[in-house]
Amino acid sequence: MQRLTNKRILLGITGGIAAYKTAELVRALVTHGAQVRVVMTDGAKEFITPLTLQALSGNPVHHSLLDPEAEAGMGHIELAKWADFILVAPASANFIARMTSGMGNDLLTTLCLASIAPLAIAPAMNQAMWADEITQNNLKQLQSLKPVQIWGPDQGEQACGDVGPGRMLEPLELARRLAEQFERKVLSGKTITITAGPTREAIDPVRYISNHSSGKMGFSLARAAQEAGAKVNLISGPVHLPTPERVHRTNVESAQNMLDAVMAVLPETDIFIGAAAVADYRPADVCDQKIKKNQDDMHIHLIKNPDIIATVAAQDNRPFCVGFAAETQDVVAYARGKLEKKKLNMVVANDVSSQHIGFNSDDNAIIIIDQDASTEYSQASKYVLSQKIIEHIAAKLPKDI
Ligand code: PMT
Repeated sequence: MQRLTNKRILLGITGGIAAYKTAELVRALVTHGAQVRVVMTDGAKEFITPLTLQALSGNPVHHSLLDPEAEAGMGHIELAKWADFILVAPASANFIARMTSGMGNDLLTTLCLASIAPLAIAPAMNQAMWADEITQNNLKQLQSLKPVQIWGPDQGEQACGDVGPGRMLEPLELARRLAEQFERKVLSGKTITITAGPTREAIDPVRYISNHSSGKMGFSLARAAQEAGAKVNLISGPVHLPTPERVHRTNVESAQNMLDAVMAVLPETDIFIGAAAVADYRPADVCDQKIKKNQDDMHIHLIKNPDIIATVAAQDNRPFCVGFAAETQDVVAYARGKLEKKKLNMVVANDVSSQHIGFNSDDNAIIIIDQDASTEYSQASKYVLSQKIIEHIAAKLPKDI
């Protein structure tokens, strides 16, 4: 558990009999070098005293949102920023319900809402409360709103005499899982820039040329890269997707805007992935005013857009370059052609002739092609495939990048 050394753990304790076990958890964390700050709800104080946790953690225990004395020390927003990781153990049904509905009505829920630190909860409650549909729905909804890890609960005999799921995981198991969070990951220390979504090429102030890219592939890659430890720049065309946690997003419209945004972050970029469906052409002239429909036919003169990924690959000190190839036939042959022509390190080929995969769908099916091999992955969610792509990149990354 060496990885806990100097890690800043915020431990939230809510009201439940398992709260007494947090004394052992705090002791284990401190023994392994973690800095621990404890936040208790009023309910938690009925089961274990703040003084015990203060003595074990070596820090004052926080419990009130409106305590001027505590705010004069480390205020609640500072505490939210201080944490490398937040664990709520035990997490009661009440706490889960309040978190799910975004109620910042005590210090602990406020901190969890205000912090961008990763969050895990270790539920502990009576087995019937755990099984209740309301609790289960709250957990599902909470996970759909925020990337929360749910650790446990364990099965077994409960303090009330019932038997079933609802026991908090043992303190040493919680400490082990916390240590696991700080493992060095495959892209730790790397910066990755990813383009996503379509571009829009203006014809006049109200019309444009674009395509059906939803951004889902690029956004899934951004999430997988962030989870693999990378710092992620996501440069996105116009899409309706939330930004993945801890990803830096820049919104752009046209191919030229996208190229400018990419070039701005290129000096810090170790890996570049072009998942965007960049329009190959744009109107030569963009009309200032809305074009009137007073002719039976109309011609738009198109000129070639810059090729973003080829521009990146042509730079001195270029990053590791991964392109996508959207093909409808001879997928591997065309993709390999792009690998060579654009001087890429890797190409992810996807067949975009089926409406169930590729453009604007949740799934994809890909073939990862590099200089010496090709690996095929059949239909799966874009997120799962993104994890595979990131693993491939990490395995092929030269030592000097
Ligand atoms: O966004 P989704 O709905 O999730 O759909 C995902 C996707 C199908 C758009 C994605 O998986 C994909 O295939 N993206 C690349 C689409 C594409 O433009 O392919 P291409 O074969 O035309 O381009 C090859 C590569 O050159 C791509 O990496 C592309 O980003 C890049 N390119 C293309 C043209 C251009 N002017 N600049 C570029 O950088």
